[in-house]
Amino acid sequence: MYRTGFIFDLDGVIVDTAKYHYLAWRKLANELGFEFTEEQNELFKGVSRKRCLEILLDIGGITATTEEFNRWMVEKNEDYLAYIEKMDRSEILPKVEEVLSYIKSKGMPIALGSASKNAIPILEKVGLSSYFEVVVDGNQVTKAKPDPEVFLMAAEKLGVPAQNCVVFEDAVAGLEAANNADMVSIGIGDAQILTAADHVFNNFEEMDISFLDRLMQEGN
Ligand code: G6P
Ligand code: MG
Repeated sequence: MYRTGFIFDLDGVIVDTAKYHYLAWRKLANELGFEFTEEQNELFKGVSRKRCLEILLDIGGITATTEEFNRWMVEKNEDYLAYIEKMDRSEILPKVEEVLSYIKSKGMPIALGSASKNAIPILEKVGLSSYFEVVVDGNQVTKAKPDPEVFLMAAEKLGVPAQNCVVFEDAVAGLEAANNADMVSIGIGDAQILTAADHVFNNFEEMDISFLDRLMQEGN
């Protein structure tokens, strides 16, 4: 039987952690004396922690010493971890578990492809770890999205050719990474922002389950 590999981004696709990343970055920006808007936070989606801090400091016009840079990275992550500490199943985005469960019931393999170094504890907190055959996260990749490394590594670990993989992403950089990997890219979010996607849905509630069947049958 034809195998389609389903690769999910984490933040903003499975759970709405983008708001916690935003609050932690905003706190740091405010401490450093400038504002950080939700609009600017769009640029941070799918982007590594280190790169986010570089962009944040650019926004604030701040030049950091190496010592400051490393300290602020730690500080942001500690604040973020405090926000996500109490996360539970209630933070799974609508219909996500139904989609994962449907794909699994069809015997198709599922992977996580995330830039986050906190991906595994988050999956555990919300109780979704068992759906994922493979997890590729920010601890394993060396090249950030839009580089396709994270998704190519996930496909390889799943044992599915890249062309037979589908990626769900909420970030522009993530969709570009999926396209660069020659995979089917599915945007979850605003179609006006996610123009790089092959298909876009505002959220999983707007995606009919039969769409998944089509992805499996067509062989993309
Ligand atoms: C995801 C989020 C980004 C975040 C990155 C690193 O891709 O969308 O906003 O910066 O992960 O997350 P981490 O948990 O390692 O700081
Ligand atoms: Mg994301």
